Amino acid sequence: MRRRKMTREFRSERIAPDLITEILDAARRVPTAGNSQGLEFLVLDEPDAVERYWSTTFSESGRASFRWQGLFDAPVLISVYGDPDAYTDRYSEPDKTHAGLSSADGWTTPYWLVDASMAALAVQLGAIDAGLGVLLFGQFDHAGSVAKEFGVPEHMVTTGTIALGWPAESATRADPGSAETTAQPGLSSSRPRRNLESMVHKNRWPVA
Ligand SMILES: Cc1cc2nc3c(=O)[nH]c(=O)nc-3n(C[C@H](O)[C@H](O)[C@H](O)COP(=O)(O)O)c2cc1C
Repeated sequence: MRRRKMTREFRSERIAPDLITEILDAARRVPTAGNSQGLEFLVLDEPDAVERYWSTTFSESGRASFRWQGLFDAPVLISVYGDPDAYTDRYSEPDKTHAGLSSADGWTTPYWLVDASMAALAVQLGAIDAGLGVLLFGQFDHAGSVAKEFGVPEHMVTTGTIALGWPAESATRADPGSAETTAQPGLSSSRPRRNLESMVHKNRWPVA
């Protein structure tokens, strides 16, 4: 976790398919609610598919003026999806009906997103462990067009897309502000990390 930083500039060098398989095979082992395992990975590892992703989510001018041009060199994009139906089906089984979660409206916390988020983190940590760089980024209002372009069933919910690649020399991999930072950090990454004390509420949550 201490080595984990988002990388936004990649080399275009390919990633061995076996390494991607290994990372995904580990990521599918995350815990899932009721062992529903409603996790799906859309893996784009062919240059044509990666290119179609970018042309689906960027206008030509938006792409030309985009701050992180090195992001477009990432050779692999993985979008992680949660399948709400897998959860409502699982929670309709006899041992789970007591929870009253057989319809998606009943879920105060959508566990398909909780589980898909854990899988997305597992993909990132596995990749970082192998020396790769990663960037998780949102699909925002492009979620529908990405789904349409790649045949993702409409009811799937995404936690976002992870770009994977070997980090470029210039990639920002150290803490913003540290002497090791070689590229200009983005506004988000320059926000200081909150300290632990401000986040931990021991025994009660005091009024701020
Ligand atoms: C749900 C989520 C969405 C994100 N979306 C973007 C994004 O669209 N573009 C981007 O450059 N970074 C995105 N990030 C990365 C965050 O900006 C980054 O994690 C944060 O600034 C902290 O930096 P660090 O991860 O390098 O420690 C996203 C991160 C998360 C968890």
